[in-house]
Amino acid sequence: MIEAQPGPAPDAIRLRQGGVDDLDDVMRIMTNAFPACFGEAWTRSQCAGILPMAGVALTIAEDSRGAAGFSLMRFVADEAELLLIAVDPAEQGNGFGRALLRHFIETGRAFGASRLHLEVRDGNPAIGLYENAGFSPAGRRRGYYRGPEGKHYDALTLVFDECK
Ligand SMILES: CC(C)(COP(=O)(O)OP(=O)(O)OC[C@H]1O[C@@H](n2cnc3c(N)ncnc32)[C@H](O)[C@@H]1OP(=O)(O)O)[C@@H](O)C(=O)NCCC(=O)NCCS
Repeated sequence: MIEAQPGPAPDAIRLRQGGVDDLDDVMRIMTNAFPACFGEAWTRSQCAGILPMAGVALTIAEDSRGAAGFSLMRFVADEAELLLIAVDPAEQGNGFGRALLRHFIETGRAFGASRLHLEVRDGNPAIGLYENAGFSPAGRRRGYYRGPEGKHYDALTLVFDECK
């Protein structure tokens, strides 16, 4: 009889600071994760342009197979804003998004931010993830997103409740 061997250790999620060298992975994940019709995804030049700016931080979430997700945050004065968060659809549901969002909250607290906020398209299922983490709606920006066919979509502003 062959004894059962212990399985491989769970593939740990690692978060690390990203930079311009990660733009290929960021754009691959961005293109796969965001439906093109809503106009939520950023272009490569938008990402490359914001990365060197003061207060902007890119975080890469990866496991042993490489980059699976990323977030982009910005700290201005005493505010922290989550500009983007995305996980490759092939890796969604495995905890990468929750880990990135928790990292944003922890980094914002460590930075001493008195307001943690983000904009999300009204109707995006990611709202459930944010609300579970303690964010709630604080406003609406009409027509904030513009799809490639010119249709506009509202954004909700969500604020971390501890900061309200
Ligand atoms: C939102 C997103 C980053 C979540 O990443 P993820 O790695 O799949 O999330 P997790 O596996 O950590 O799941 C976290 C929680 O959110 C829930 N969730 C995640 N995506 C969801 C979805 N599309 N619909 C409903 N619930 C979702 C999970 O069920 C889980 O709930 P739980 O905490 O009760 O178990 C990912 O779905 C994504 O990239 N979406 C497309 C890009 C996008 O719209 N980004 C947000 C706007 S900037």
